[in-house]
Amino acid sequence: MFDNKKHFTTAIVGALVAFSVIALVLSLVKIEDVTLPPVVKYGMVFDAGSSHTSLFVYEWDSDKENDTGVVSQTLSCDVQGQGISSYANDPPKAGDSLRECLDKALKVIPAAKQRDAPAYLGATAGMRLLREQNSSAADHILATVAKTMRQYPVAFKGARILTGEEEGAYGWITINYLLDSFMKYSPKTHTWVHPEAANIFGALDLGGASTQISFMPEGSVTNWNEASEFMLYGFNYNIYTHSYLCYGQNEMLKRLAKELIAESSSSMHVDHPCYPKDYNETVLLSSFRTSPCTNQSDPRLTLDNKNVTLQGRGDASGCLTAVRKLFNFSACGQSQDCTFDGVYQPPVRGQFIAFSAFYYNFKFLNLTEGQSLATVRENIKHFCTRSWEDLSSSYPEENPERLPKYCANANYILTLLLDAYKFNETSWNNIFFQMKAGSADVGWTLGYMLNLTNMIPAEAPARLKGHVPSLWAVAVAFIILTLSLGLAALLVLLWV
Ligand SMILES: *[C@@H]1O[C@H](CO)[C@@H](O)[C@H](O)[C@H]1NC(C)=O
Ligand SMILES: *[C@@H]1O[C@H](CO)[C@@H](O)[C@H](O)[C@H]1NC(C)=O
Ligand SMILES: *[C@@H]1O[C@H](CO)[C@@H](O)[C@H](O)[C@H]1NC(C)=O
Ligand SMILES: *[C@@H]1O[C@H](CO)[C@@H](O)[C@H](O)[C@H]1NC(C)=O
Ligand SMILES: *[C@@H]1O[C@H](CO)[C@@H](O)[C@H](O)[C@H]1NC(C)=O
Repeated sequence: MFDNKKHFTTAIVGALVAFSVIALVLSLVKIEDVTLPPVVKYGMVFDAGSSHTSLFVYEWDSDKENDTGVVSQTLSCDVQGQGISSYANDPPKAGDSLRECLDKALKVIPAAKQRDAPAYLGATAGMRLLREQNSSAADHILATVAKTMRQYPVAFKGARILTGEEEGAYGWITINYLLDSFMKYSPKTHTWVHPEAANIFGALDLGGASTQISFMPEGSVTNWNEASEFMLYGFNYNIYTHSYLCYGQNEMLKRLAKELIAESSSSMHVDHPCYPKDYNETVLLSSFRTSPCTNQSDPRLTLDNKNVTLQGRGDASGCLTAVRKLFNFSACGQSQDCTFDGVYQPPVRGQFIAFSAFYYNFKFLNLTEGQSLATVRENIKHFCTRSWEDLSSSYPEENPERLPKYCANANYILTLLLDAYKFNETSWNNIFFQMKAGSADVGWTLGYMLNLTNMIPAEAPARLKGHVPSLWAVAVAFIILTLSLGLAALLVLLWV
């Protein structure tokens, strides 16, 4: 009898100890694995810009897809050659140009996930300009890129031309999503909190053919054309966004050259204040006809098959003056809430991320370290005076097509940000020149995919991260309960 009781006690205690150990092991396994095994999902977006195309592949855990900041960038791939709008005379080549990057994407997306991966192509200002010029050529190109994408085992969702306002708005969404400014997880309260509206970032994007500015202005929306309104995670955002077609840096350079030639008294040799001393470039006047930004007739100039040589002068202040002539500031009259060409803009507010060509130009000039406006001006001025011989020997690695253009681009950026958008000495310090936020590239593509896959809900997230610690608490309480029950049973049995 006593022996039996002892065996019984041992068995009970053994069982309870084993049970506790199992409970402990289970609770140590990551909670996510216990609740729901996360499924990794993939998506891809082609950014078909005016001068080149890039592909971005993103991934995220399906069980967190309504949270902010959970999408990461898996791959970025630069398509070889020019932008898709350059294939107007041979559209099938536009489709073929995408294949190399599509093949790379299929190497990083597991075969079992490919069919569910949404794939988009968005074209921007280069295609907007081509559509203006020859809409059937633009349609033809979009049809051939769609045809190519359909040949791959992905969930093709469409190839289209974004409006300038969409491009601006999606860039703004991308930045604030990556920087967690819509929702922030508070470790103190274990909940998602909504940061102050003042912590929302503005977006400054400079492409080859257009430039965009997007930000949340002070006060409520008046009846602007440039207003966009979104509900994101239960909050309403009134965004000002404007896109300036023909104010991308490549179109700007062409407009600048055309203006300098039109103004010049010589029809063969024209001084170019922004190009380095001893640098020459020959342009065919009829090439200005290929873009709607430069093909307007001008009584001072015939766009025929004549060549003109642009001669670099390395004249910093002359360059700034010439660049300023590309903007019609007088069309704003006395209005302060106006940039140029009569475009309305409320005063800039808060911090801004300046990406794409804003970043690339300033990166080359070593001006992305938060230097003061005075330092930036001084450095650009100095850079502009450097001769072509000096530049080409100092930067042998730099693309020789790009190297002579930094002076013009930098002065253009200064004019746009200061004279047009009206940043000043103080608000200049709120502009951050960067290409990435976290590990993802900043651009419109991520915001576009998030919106089209409904990954940014209009309502506040129901599933709060706060449940993770509470699950832990349950697990710990369970172990303590099991152990104390075991101990109690042991004491009771020994007593009896
Ligand atoms: C995300 O939100 C949508 C609609 O708001 C909902 O139907 C879906 O179940 C949510 N997904 C997750 C993983 O919470
Ligand atoms: C438009 O482009 C197509 C090629 O896609 C060309 O055949 C046609 O002549 C062009 N039309 C005009 C008006 O330039
Ligand atoms: C600037 O805009 C004003 C008002 O729209 C117009 O009268 C003027 O001709 C424009 N100037 C130039 C150089 O285009
Ligand atoms: C940028 O900084 C690097 C390293 O200090 C230097 O070699 C380079 O010349 C600088 N570039 C310009 C454009 O000043
Ligand atoms: C996102 O998509 C919805 C349709 O699903 C559309 O109504 C909304 O305007 C889009 N948001 C933006 C920023 O374009």
